Amino acid sequence: MNTLALNIFELIDRLEGSRSLEHSEFVRLLSDDISPDEALYLQHRARFITDRIFGRNVRIRGLIEITNVCRNDCLYCGLRKSNSSLRRYTLTVGEILSCCRLGYEAGFRTFVLQGGENPGLTADRIVETVSAIHKEFADCAITLSLGEWSDNDLELFREAGAARYLLRHETINSAHYSRLHPSEMSRDNRLRCLWTLKRLGYQTGTGIMVGSPFQTVSNIAEDLLFMKELQPEMIGIGPFIPHSATPFAGYNAGNLDLTLRLISILRLMFPGANIPATTALHTLHPQGRDRGLLAGANVVMPNLSPTGIRKQYSLYDNKKSFGAESAEGLAKLASQLEKINLFITTERGDYKNV
Ligand code: 5AD
Repeated sequence: MNTLALNIFELIDRLEGSRSLEHSEFVRLLSDDISPDEALYLQHRARFITDRIFGRNVRIRGLIEITNVCRNDCLYCGLRKSNSSLRRYTLTVGEILSCCRLGYEAGFRTFVLQGGENPGLTADRIVETVSAIHKEFADCAITLSLGEWSDNDLELFREAGAARYLLRHETINSAHYSRLHPSEMSRDNRLRCLWTLKRLGYQTGTGIMVGSPFQTVSNIAEDLLFMKELQPEMIGIGPFIPHSATPFAGYNAGNLDLTLRLISILRLMFPGANIPATTALHTLHPQGRDRGLLAGANVVMPNLSPTGIRKQYSLYDNKKSFGAESAEGLAKLASQLEKINLFITTERGDYKNV
């Protein structure tokens, strides 16, 4: 093996220049034996690029968790249909609009409608909801995060006014995918949706959980190469956190440093992408959010759901949804961010093509 080519500093510089590496080189960057100096260098390069493109601004998105009903049974997720301990809910169009009104007042110009794959929530109902938000808040971006739909439905949502769509691929490795999901679900259907979203002109988001059971560093390197192909405009990366009512209850949570390192790598690969410091990162570690932003993230997604249902949207244990991660906590968030010289911006915050 050519050891010169595996010098970490050189790899980081090459990643910044060419925006990609070979599989084995990504594995090297993600491996445990990276030194603290090397990790710090990666983080500083990523934050430098983030500053150059976004300044010290942090974009905010109002997250509205519109339903926790889900037909799927993903082994990691607390919303899985086999979890009988949740009170299931679906917000009405009126309730969602009320959330948007509160959010708009607070300064949000992006609304993210997220939910499980609820068979009762028809495409017509989504179209009605998106159209109503689009009409009342013409200057806002509507992001959907509602799982897999037919090409036709995704097109209807786009025509109704949805500009962005989040759909994590979770893992590109088929064998790994089938250990995280029941056999009825297919990685290929997920990919079909992602490529359709791109074709329809959505700003498309994808991503993975870091440290999901059975994940290897080689899998993550494959995910990075897949993302290089897809060219997502948004990337959601958070640690896996076990949920007590799932088959993965006894597994370890993902690693903070590896998650941060991935955020930095993704920033170097996709300089203009919107990359959130996720709630899972903040739930894993009290400084998770701030460290994510300092590692190259540029977005936070405060919770704008009605307070009464937040506990029921239980993706993983102890998920934060009050305090500074809530829309009511925006002033608190702003003052916490100021301490690290970052400032909330209320611009709509589309992808920057750089
Ligand atoms: N830990 C962390 N993230 C999770 N998600 C679902 N379950 C968990 C968990 N236990 C993530 C998935 C999904 C997103 C909405 O939440 O990646 O795409």
